[in-house]
Amino acid sequence: MKIPYVNLSKQYLKEKQKLLSIIDKVLKSGQYVGGDEVERFEKKIASLLKTKYCIALNSGTDALTLGLHSLGVRKNDEVITTSNSFIASTAVIVHLGAKPIFVDVKEDQTINPALIEKAITKKTKAIMVVHLTGRICDMDKIIPIAKKYNIPIIEDAAQAIGSRYKNKYAGTFGKIGCFSAHPLKNLNALGDSGYLTTNSTKIAKLIKDVRNHGMTNRNRIKNFGYVSRMDNLQAAVLNFRLKNLKLIIKKRRKNAVIYFKNLNKKYVFIPPETKKEFNTYHTFVVQVSKRDKLKKYLKSKGIETSIHYPIPIHLQPALKKLKYRYSNLNKTEKQSKKIITLPINQFLKKSEIQTICYEVNNFYENF
Ligand SMILES: Cc1ncc(COP(=O)(O)O)c(C=O)c1O
Repeated sequence: MKIPYVNLSKQYLKEKQKLLSIIDKVLKSGQYVGGDEVERFEKKIASLLKTKYCIALNSGTDALTLGLHSLGVRKNDEVITTSNSFIASTAVIVHLGAKPIFVDVKEDQTINPALIEKAITKKTKAIMVVHLTGRICDMDKIIPIAKKYNIPIIEDAAQAIGSRYKNKYAGTFGKIGCFSAHPLKNLNALGDSGYLTTNSTKIAKLIKDVRNHGMTNRNRIKNFGYVSRMDNLQAAVLNFRLKNLKLIIKKRRKNAVIYFKNLNKKYVFIPPETKKEFNTYHTFVVQVSKRDKLKKYLKSKGIETSIHYPIPIHLQPALKKLKYRYSNLNKTEKQSKKIITLPINQFLKKSEIQTICYEVNNFYENF
């Protein structure tokens, strides 16, 4: 028996006919960089999330880079964020010459709003909230702080397409929302892709230019730019897959319910989904003792798991070298030793999730 953590080949087999015809159509059109599909994708996302603009980019990482850049983050500025994220959310801050100021998290792994105010200084240029696992941060508490100090919020919503908080979508709370369409995301391309949302005409215009060498037209460069465009082919695939997103989220939420029902809470802490939240379960992360032993045990039973993320960013060699000083990140550090990501992809059968639950419970009862 093998229960895979992800199943991209199954997705391909299911979509093969359609994907091959999409690829054929785009290749025949000769339009590879920019094009109709990109524009269609931007319109669809803006309409789904109810934002004025969506700008298609080549990755979630570049969405964050261009987002911070457009907020004016430059050398020696500070950006408040969390350390238990994917490395990209901090790397983009460092690449802009700014300094990440890490704030500890709550039990549910999202930023602790009670600690944000203390981290604000005159140099704070942005607050980057990370909607980790597809759970939106506690925006009711974060927005008033940002307003009080007039600091823009940028949302790392890489893992949170379709997630809602009080019925409002991820990527629509701050000045800018940043999304990834990496193959492992719920809305996934056939390689790297990302996009950004905003209601600001000024930001949208700037990012549209800088994603394309800074060209305002073929011969005019107002600002030096990057090459951060989404390919027309990836946009075509995303336009097709967007039709399935609701179903994918529904299936993942159904899988989560099976876990909630069957995992023994005596051994496993599952951060609950509050009434405000509509989580999309990009990942299903639980907290346990003896995590590494459990991981090994599950592997011996053919169950593939992952850890998001075993080393908090502030403890990564790349960052330690920079010799920044940090406030207490106790919870982040403790959680990094307890978290384990169980499979939740939309291709799993109910019986497979029940087996995972059985094996997790069995490990704590008998080993
Ligand atoms: C929280 C978070 N931020 C940023 C990124 C970067 O996105 P991408 O891989 O599309 O560059 C990811 C993707 O893995 C992510 O999970």
